[in-house]
Amino acid sequence: RDSEPLQVMISGAPASGKGTQCELIKHKYGLVHVAAGDLLRAEIATGSDNGKLAKQYMEKGQLVPDHIVVMMVKDRLLKPDAKDNGWLLDGYPRSLSQATALKQFGFQPDIFVLLEVSEDILVERVVGRRLDPVTGKIYHLKYSPPENEEIAARLTQRFDDTEEKVKLRLNTHHQNVEAVLSMYKDITVKINGNVSKEEVFAQIDSALTSLLEQRKAASGSV
Ligand code: AP5
Repeated sequence: RDSEPLQVMISGAPASGKGTQCELIKHKYGLVHVAAGDLLRAEIATGSDNGKLAKQYMEKGQLVPDHIVVMMVKDRLLKPDAKDNGWLLDGYPRSLSQATALKQFGFQPDIFVLLEVSEDILVERVVGRRLDPVTGKIYHLKYSPPENEEIAARLTQRFDDTEEKVKLRLNTHHQNVEAVLSMYKDITVKINGNVSKEEVFAQIDSALTSLLEQRKAASGSV
């Protein structure tokens, strides 16, 4: 059926713009955004043992162990909203073992979107990033400044968003990225993520539109 919901993976280095693009994709395509990092931060906020353990790894910029992350993501993807509307998986899988586990559970994405951003830009994006705890919106002091003083006053910074920690996160990313890419080679679309968020979205939008058109054409021909 050409009306099967889309299943999209989005990947890229820390601060490459995954969360920012997911907001735009979600808005246009109605997919459910499942972000591994957000699930982990929600777990930390509950004060659970898993959350405490996860935080220790996140503070070092390392991957949280599979026994915590794998089931968390699987359970979220199996919820009815994600099954019915399709999903947009952000920041997962980050290792070969996570990719393999996902495949074993029967999750097969239609497209793997890879955001490519140069390293000096990544560091600048990390240190300038701020979050609105009320709306969950992502800001950047220079590139996406808050709309007014009230929002500006309540913005927070993530505990792992320092220049020192982003270096550790980047190392972890470099150690794992090739193995993950090898699993999705046939469906990978590389996106130039160095440009403005609107220009990045235009590239992703065109990839998703042509995917939907191909499906439509294929279902019309049988
Ligand atoms: P996670 O929360 O996933 O962090 P990350 O991958 O480091 O990615 P970020 O959320 O930092 O960045 P983003 O790409 O979403 O960029 P954003 O749109 O915010 O993971 C955190 C930690 O959790 C990991 O280190 C690990 O410990 C653990 N973890 C997560 N997943 C795991 C897994 N699968 N397994 C094990 N452990 C896991 O943009 C960044 C900034 O740039 C913003 O300020 C934004 O406004 C700005 N910006 C965005 N796009 C543009 C643009 N085009 N131009 C200018 N500015 C822009």
